[in-house]
Amino acid sequence: MSYSKTFKELDKLEHDRSSFDCGEKELNDFIQTRAAKHMQAGISRTMVLPGSMPLPNQKHPICSFYSIAPSSISHEALPKSMAKKLPRYPIPVFLLAQLAVHKEFHGSGLGKVSLIKALEYLWEINAHMRAYAIVVDCLTKNAESFYAKFGFEVLCELNGRVRMFIPMKTVEQLFS
Ligand SMILES: CC(C)(COP(=O)(O)OP(=O)(O)OC[C@H]1O[C@@H](n2cnc3c(N)ncnc32)[C@H](O)[C@@H]1OP(=O)(O)O)[C@@H](O)C(=O)NCCC(=O)NCCS
Repeated sequence: MSYSKTFKELDKLEHDRSSFDCGEKELNDFIQTRAAKHMQAGISRTMVLPGSMPLPNQKHPICSFYSIAPSSISHEALPKSMAKKLPRYPIPVFLLAQLAVHKEFHGSGLGKVSLIKALEYLWEINAHMRAYAIVVDCLTKNAESFYAKFGFEVLCELNGRVRMFIPMKTVEQLFS
């Protein structure tokens, strides 16, 4: 399987959700059953990197995807050095709610490409609607070390997951 050059918004008619397998049941379930519903409900957006060749059902396989949503974090959750410069009410952030790569591509650099594309997309949104940081909720220790590699730092624990963040000022250095 080879993949296209650009991410596209998930389209049930165009993208084959059922063949996606990243090795994590929760993320497979999300893309297969919830991502499109959440978009329809207006609570998140999922972008997919389609395979370049269609399957026999004429749909394109999904090689990787990411989902984003607006969110906020409490002032108290931030490190003191950051919090002291900010007002004492919920701080707007972007949530990188999901990111996964089909297991056929694990270790081939697609996770890095997908993360950079997600950060770039959020950076573009930030030009119109500002957020202080990007946060991710890590499903596993593996995810935690993946994000740590790209500069995400631990923020807190939330619902049994480690929440990590990267300030928008750091993202700015990548794209400006
Ligand atoms: C985590 C995941 C997205 C990584 O994708 P990938 O395509 O295998 O990663 P890449 O090949 O792009 O690796 C990029 C870099 O991250 C590193 N990396 C990859 N997985 C890692 C891990 N689990 N822990 C630490 N580093 C990791 C690679 O060594 C590589 O480093 P390099 O640039 O110095 O060579 C993928 O394994 C996946 O989809 N896992 C299941 C879903 C998941 O856990 N998603 C995380 C969000 S909850």
